[in-house]
Amino acid sequence: MKKIYFDYAATSIKRKKILEDILEKADLFDGNPDSSHSFGRDAKKILEESRKAIAKSIGAKPSQIIFTSGASESNNTVLSAFKNKKIITTNIEHDSIENTYDPQNTILIEADEEGISLDQIKEKITDDIKLVSVMMVNNEMGLIMPIKEIGEYLKEKDIYFHVDCVQAYGHLDIDVDEMNIDFLSLSGHKIGGINGFGVLFASENLPSFIKGGEQEKYRRAGTSYVMGAYSMAKSFPCMISEREKIKDLKNYLLDSLAKSKLSYQINANPEKTVDHIVNIYFKDYRSDFLLTYLDMHGIAVSAGSACRAGAVIPSKVVERIYGPDRASHSLRISLGFENTRADIDMLLEVLGELDDR
Ligand SMILES: Cc1ncc(COP(=O)(O)O)c(C=O)c1O
Repeated sequence: MKKIYFDYAATSIKRKKILEDILEKADLFDGNPDSSHSFGRDAKKILEESRKAIAKSIGAKPSQIIFTSGASESNNTVLSAFKNKKIITTNIEHDSIENTYDPQNTILIEADEEGISLDQIKEKITDDIKLVSVMMVNNEMGLIMPIKEIGEYLKEKDIYFHVDCVQAYGHLDIDVDEMNIDFLSLSGHKIGGINGFGVLFASENLPSFIKGGEQEKYRRAGTSYVMGAYSMAKSFPCMISEREKIKDLKNYLLDSLAKSKLSYQINANPEKTVDHIVNIYFKDYRSDFLLTYLDMHGIAVSAGSACRAGAVIPSKVVERIYGPDRASHSLRISLGFENTRADIDMLLEVLGELDDR
């Protein structure tokens, strides 16, 4: 049975060519980049070249890029630095934001099926707000937020702006200067890099969240993860070249659904969503049943975010926007570079067989 993976928003299929490339030059990754011998220098060279490439990919300077263990840590670092300050964020952020802010000091903007608007932020802004944190693309429904407009407004108001760009990176253009972003989080494994590596762009220094050695210029302690950095830097150009393909797959999925006999509705306005995430409501079937049924046919999809210990827990975002019943009957299909139109045909064929029984 061919296995089909539609869960790229949880983590991407790894890019085997990049892994082979790493194996081929494995000797260069041996040293600790902070060691002052040739092994260290080889690793340092790769680390700094990766930093340069990642900085360029978001219009930042290499000195503004801090390597972390993942976007959860990047998000925690920013939110923890503002723990005693008044902040604004949204009710559809990733758990690494939601479980870090202090509810007493936080104003939440409520999203709807179009996402959030700048006007909602304007309505809540007061003189004591120090930070606004808004994700660029929601990981469960794919909604795209008006980051450029929000950044422009916050610059006028002199308020810090943090953006979780994990699900936007590689899919949408990001430029920290043009978008007036002060802090930004990225994750390597969402674009095909090795798991456990992330980036924090910081236009100014924040207190180090992980304390210890002098790595990352005292901004984040811990021995550098050179393979993580390299695999992320090398994955980014692949993402750019795959954009058209992913767009075609989303359109094909939407068209094929429309032509099918399946009873469904798309969660979120598809005009306002990114190409790689399609969240679908199937009123006749529960998501836990669909997930298991598809898994038995070798097809991997998800219901909500994957950060919930392997359990099939309905999407909190679908629940907050549409209510619990719709959330417990919805699936997230997230597309990536190994998918084909034939994979989508297979998905709809297998789902269609349910109605024929
Ligand atoms: C929007 C968003 N932010 C943050 C994260 C956390 O990223 P990481 O797995 O690198 O900690 C994820 C991953 O699920 C995500 O989708």
